[in-house]
Amino acid sequence: MKKYLLIGLVICAAVAAAIHYYGSPSKPAAAQKLTIHFTCDTSGRLEPCGCFTGQHGGLTRLMTWLEERPERHDTLKLDVGGALAGVNDYDLVQYQYLARGYREMGFAALNMGAAEAAIPAKTLASLSATSAVPLVSASLVDATRKEILEPFRIVEAAGKRIGILGVVSPTSVVDAGEGIAVLGLDEAIERQLPALREKADLIVLLAFAKENELRRLARDYYEFALILGGDVGGPAQDLIRENDSIVLFTTNEARTVGTLTATLGGEPRTRLLDPAYEITLLEEGIPQHPDLKKLVSEFRDEIRRTPLAVDDPNAVDPRAIPGVQPAATYVGSATCQSCHPKAFESWQKSGHGHAFETLVKKGSDADPHCIECHTVGFGRPSGYRRPFGKEKLIDVGCESCHGPASEHVAHFRDGKKTAFKFRPVGPGDCVTCHHGEFSRPFEWDKFWPLIEHGKE
Ligand code: HEC
Ligand code: HEC
Ligand code: HEC
Ligand code: HEC
Repeated sequence: MKKYLLIGLVICAAVAAAIHYYGSPSKPAAAQKLTIHFTCDTSGRLEPCGCFTGQHGGLTRLMTWLEERPERHDTLKLDVGGALAGVNDYDLVQYQYLARGYREMGFAALNMGAAEAAIPAKTLASLSATSAVPLVSASLVDATRKEILEPFRIVEAAGKRIGILGVVSPTSVVDAGEGIAVLGLDEAIERQLPALREKADLIVLLAFAKENELRRLARDYYEFALILGGDVGGPAQDLIRENDSIVLFTTNEARTVGTLTATLGGEPRTRLLDPAYEITLLEEGIPQHPDLKKLVSEFRDEIRRTPLAVDDPNAVDPRAIPGVQPAATYVGSATCQSCHPKAFESWQKSGHGHAFETLVKKGSDADPHCIECHTVGFGRPSGYRRPFGKEKLIDVGCESCHGPASEHVAHFRDGKKTAFKFRPVGPGDCVTCHHGEFSRPFEWDKFWPLIEHGKE
């Protein structure tokens, strides 16, 4: 008898344990935690350019940083827009690699910012068809006012259906792409809200917009648990609460990533409870992820093989004044040697004299993003073009600073009478290349003595 009692007790205990373990079906599931990582304004920074040591950021570092963070609960990764560097054909090639990088990191959606809104409608639609991560935008519409991309996505995370709605403010878009119209923020949002209210338990708004607009949207709509931006001057340092929403934003060309951790719960609307927010600077010390370094070199190979508009010598220089032919053309630094031997010698020894070799060593010598400042006159009719390879107009040459010199040479070498005079050159010319992430802080008094020449 005692034996049966014991077995009975064991069964009771097992059933109790099972109920405890699986939870009783009538009770709502326990609130779950969710972490959201977000980026904005990556501006083509697959990797930092390497123009000086001490550079932060790049998707290569973001991936390492994300991998080193233990994921204790569901994680959602989102980009608010501006991943694209520009609308040149080579920027669009790079965008596919940026999207692949984002996929490798597990991003759920890429919103369209000002840079993406400048892509022609047809190109945007085809980019979207092959994009590694879904592109979203409720703002960008075609001539029939139909959305060009998915306006939102629904993802399951932390036991909830999370709606991710993407918008871009018309005030942020300087130049919309051919065939693209940008809806007002309210129209873009209101068109999607009925469907979203039905399909999602919680809505995250990705809004490439200015800070005051982000706050205004929080005040005018109770629907968004979280609003992520944006077109801002700097990242949000602290958690911002506005009306019933949390508002956060970041920027800085892939140098920062924002992270929000919260519990999903609340009545009658699901909200992000007990939120904790941090903004992380992707410091130089974070190693670049090998998988993304591989992607970078694949991009370099593809861009080398791909014929580009800038390769065409007849391409119109966007900087040229219509109808005005430049008087002089580029002749190359070697031409100057015979008459300016000292200037030539000091130039040849300087960094400027082997700036192209620097790119060759990195495999970046076919990437227009780099060539621009490491060659002579790139993008101008008589300037460096990629088919020249290593033959002509490489390096930061004499004419990178002084300007095209054919007239000058014709005058002194060939005896042609010209009224040509070089324009004066000074610190203002140096900072066309020595600025931002591309240079140590530029100081004339420290930099000029290192390349000083001209007094012969
Ligand atoms: C806006 C102009 C500009 C662009 C674009 C640019 N660079 Fe540079 N780069 C510079 C300048 C200026 C320096 C020198 C910086 C200094 O001395 O502080 C430099 C230096 C470098 C150096 C270091 C040279 C050395 O020996 O110390 C590397 C490597 C480099 N660039 C690679 C690249 C790559 C790769 C790209 C494209 C992704 C690129 N650069 C795009 C202007 C540019
Ligand atoms: C055949 C000889 C010759 C060649 C080749 C030559 N120069 Fe000169 N350059 C001169 C002479 C002579 C002067 C001095 C003119 C004066 O004092 O008016 C001069 C002056 C200059 C000056 C300062 C005066 C000014 O006009 O503003 C600059 C800058 C200059 N050269 C740059 C270059 C560059 C860059 C190249 C190569 C693309 C080059 N030169 C090739 C002979 C030459
Ligand atoms: C067309 C773009 C460009 C312009 C304009 C330019 N630089 Fe540079 N500069 C570079 C690049 C690229 C490098 C890195 C070269 C390398 O090592 O690959 C560099 C490197 C340097 C360096 C460090 C290398 C060395 O030789 O010590 C100094 C100093 C420098 N530049 C000074 C100047 C000054 C001064 C001016 C203006 C008079 C100027 N630069 C204008 C692109 C430029
Ligand atoms: C990085 C930019 C840069 C490069 C590259 C450069 N120069 Fe200059 N050069 C200058 C600047 C700036 C001055 C004027 C400095 C001053 O005002 O004291 C100057 C001055 C001169 C002068 C004297 C001008 C005068 O009015 O007397 C000559 C000649 C000259 N450069 C020739 C050359 C030649 C030849 C080369 C190539 C071998 C070359 N430079 C490369 C920036 C450059």
